[in-house]
Amino acid sequence: MKEFKRYTVTSALPYANGPVHIGHLAGVYIPADIYVRYLRLKGKDVVFIGGSDEHGVPITIKARNEGVSPQDVVDKYHTIIKKSFEELGISFDIYSRTTSIIHHKTASDFFRKLYLDGKFVEKTSEQYYDVEAQQFLADRYIKGTCPHCSNEDAYGDQCEKCGTTLSPLDLINPRSALSGNQPILKETKHWYLPLEQYEPFLKKWILEDHKEWKANVYGQCKSWLDSGLQPRAVSRDLDWGVPVPVEGADGKVLYVWFDAPIGYISNTIEWAENTGNDWRKYWQDEEAKLVHFIGKDNIVFHCIIFPAMLKAHGSYILPENVPGNEFLNLENDKISTSRNWAVWLHEYLVEFPGKQDVLRYVLAANMPETKDNDFTWKDFQTRNNSELVAILGNFINRTAILTQKYYGGKVPALGTLTSFDQETLAEMAQYKDKVEKALETYHFREALKEAMNLARLGNKYLADTEPWILVKTDALRVETIMNISLQITANLSIVFEPFMPFTAEKIRTLLNIDTLGWEQLGKMDLVKAGHSVGTPFLLFDKIEDAEIEAQVNKLLNAKQANQNKVQVNQSKEVISFDDFSKLDIRTGTILEAERVPKTKKLLKLLIDTGIDKRTVVSGISEFYNPEDIIGKKVSILVNLAPREIKGIESHGMILMAENTKGELAFISCDKEFNNGSEIR
Ligand code: 2FM
Ligand code: ZN
Repeated sequence: MKEFKRYTVTSALPYANGPVHIGHLAGVYIPADIYVRYLRLKGKDVVFIGGSDEHGVPITIKARNEGVSPQDVVDKYHTIIKKSFEELGISFDIYSRTTSIIHHKTASDFFRKLYLDGKFVEKTSEQYYDVEAQQFLADRYIKGTCPHCSNEDAYGDQCEKCGTTLSPLDLINPRSALSGNQPILKETKHWYLPLEQYEPFLKKWILEDHKEWKANVYGQCKSWLDSGLQPRAVSRDLDWGVPVPVEGADGKVLYVWFDAPIGYISNTIEWAENTGNDWRKYWQDEEAKLVHFIGKDNIVFHCIIFPAMLKAHGSYILPENVPGNEFLNLENDKISTSRNWAVWLHEYLVEFPGKQDVLRYVLAANMPETKDNDFTWKDFQTRNNSELVAILGNFINRTAILTQKYYGGKVPALGTLTSFDQETLAEMAQYKDKVEKALETYHFREALKEAMNLARLGNKYLADTEPWILVKTDALRVETIMNISLQITANLSIVFEPFMPFTAEKIRTLLNIDTLGWEQLGKMDLVKAGHSVGTPFLLFDKIEDAEIEAQVNKLLNAKQANQNKVQVNQSKEVISFDDFSKLDIRTGTILEAERVPKTKKLLKLLIDTGIDKRTVVSGISEFYNPEDIIGKKVSILVNLAPREIKGIESHGMILMAENTKGELAFISCDKEFNNGSEIR
């Protein structure tokens, strides 16, 4: 295997149109951070690049919906995301953003070089244009009827009802989401990267030279390459993004997937400027190993399109590996931002203060490495209580307390080793290799499992040697046992550092030691006899049922709120105030009530509206007896056109609240107002 001098590790730049959730973390940021922390512990020269992806159409749509500018949207979420990553201990060397000046310049220069080198193909095509808004419409800004399922609200790129991928020209009766008008077709010019020209290179580079890539990543690449690549437009008609830096390109910006991966380079340049490093050593030198951490929806962009861009440019190295993960589900349902079905990192940090490592541990243990995986709050609780508290915490706590109790906190000397001691130490020495092999090949779950096995080894050692009993009969032997337990504890501080840095730090505080390097892992003399350790404290607390129930309820509430929203969205369109003021709603009193013969639901009511006394037929008899509602205060829509219901002319409508079970209840004024008071 080639030895590299330097490592350039990137993690997908999240869109700055919402906060980060556990799916992002398990898929991308936790594995990337584990990998980077491991490399640093090994003393490697590594730069870890992060940042927000701040361009693209969804951000402009969010801004429009909220009545703010796209810059406002990205400023808000960039701040939230950056802060929450920091608090979780994601140890980026830089977390910047694609609206930065450096990024605009870098992306612009990159495009210009490819343009001047003749790497693009220019093509004119017809695209939808909104005459009133005077702009071309991005796919998401065009709505119309889906040709497959007749959904009238399908988007130009996808029908969300039947899931079909569409192109705007597929839509029946297209309309602009900006003005509601029917768009016209108008010619527009764009620049395309002729990916088909890179097919032979990509086939060799991936399918032959990188057979070691993860099966899910390799498989997706193979299927793209087998079905043949097409030219890809790298510009868009939009006013949000990096302007296309050539003449005659007014109103055009770089496609977000062209500029975003260049963001990795821009952010490295920014980091290098801040720290006095040379960014080229991390991007333009064969001795640097480039690794992209991403989720599965980003595979084609990082394995095919970005490498083709880098190849076209000619000065850059290509990724050595792209360890893409599958998706994490939540309580057996797909994580969804729009349905608010997610555990949001910034909320977790507030609701579980000081428990960053619990989340890091649970997400690493459930990482969707080879297939989609599920996060449940029950599993979160079990892993905390039965693994972190009962295994890791328990071993270290017992060791710390016994050291305090027997030796006043001073490390006792190692005496003669029994064969059991020797076996235990030999086993301890094996973990370096095991964990290292797993981490080098991006098997993070396996690596974490092995780290936990070292804690299990410690627990077993204490349980088998029982120093608390031996102390009465063989004090010398107990010194050796406690020395070995302390060595295992020091080893745990190393092996857990990549996964749970806050806990590793706490273990070092308990032992009163500085950070140890990866090369120390497996050694049996990490804390010397006579060294004073710190005062014992607990590493983890039990998580109670009530905390978990609160989280599950929070999710169920989100689901209910979402269902209510869907119902509103499905049945009602937005109306103007003028529309609303056409309704004349008044307070009234029921004077008489009787059942309408041969009907199940209808009551014939006589209402005093303050203006007149009138007959209204209302479908409420399943919920109210006529005799019980005489004198009841109600709200009545008085200017509804008269309708004949079962031979009775009904003049107006009584307003009722309806719950999710379909039960009805009167809406009344909560003060004694005269009949005829206006409701508005
Ligand atoms: O899928 C996403 O969230 C994209 N914003 C990832 C971009 S990765 C890179 F290219 F910047
Ligand atoms: Zn459809």
